[in-house]
Amino acid sequence: GAPVEVDISKLEPGQKIDVEWRGKPVWVVNRTKEMIDNMAKIEGKLVDPASAKSEQPEYANNKLRSRADHANIWIALGVCTHLGCSPSFRPDLAPADLGADWVGGFYCPCHGSKFDLAGRVYSGVPAPTNLVIPPYKYLTATTVRVG
Ligand code: FES
Repeated sequence: GAPVEVDISKLEPGQKIDVEWRGKPVWVVNRTKEMIDNMAKIEGKLVDPASAKSEQPEYANNKLRSRADHANIWIALGVCTHLGCSPSFRPDLAPADLGADWVGGFYCPCHGSKFDLAGRVYSGVPAPTNLVIPPYKYLTATTVRVG
């Protein structure tokens, strides 16, 4: 499939936009500093916290799973690694249905898999691996090409 260009100039901190690439949803999230700081609290609850076994390009092979020059911007396939549902964006803290230790992330409604705001999967859920990071690059400071 053809690459897709995404304009992130209006993507506010804390927001997500969805685009489609190769027939799949791709998410672009502008993570706030608070969101990033909160991810440190759940390292011990993740299957692969350093994403050592995860599908991602080399430039996203770091703790935040994003390009270092736009570390707050996270881009991933919005496809659950269990059976392919699209998880819901749940940036809220401690929602009644997800528990007091939820620090924001993605919840898959199909079988209850949970991922943090870098797409790292929690322990004890059906999804076996972290969400997939697609190939992408910045054409300008506010334009990303996915694919
Ligand atoms: Fe997401 Fe099963 S498809 S938990």
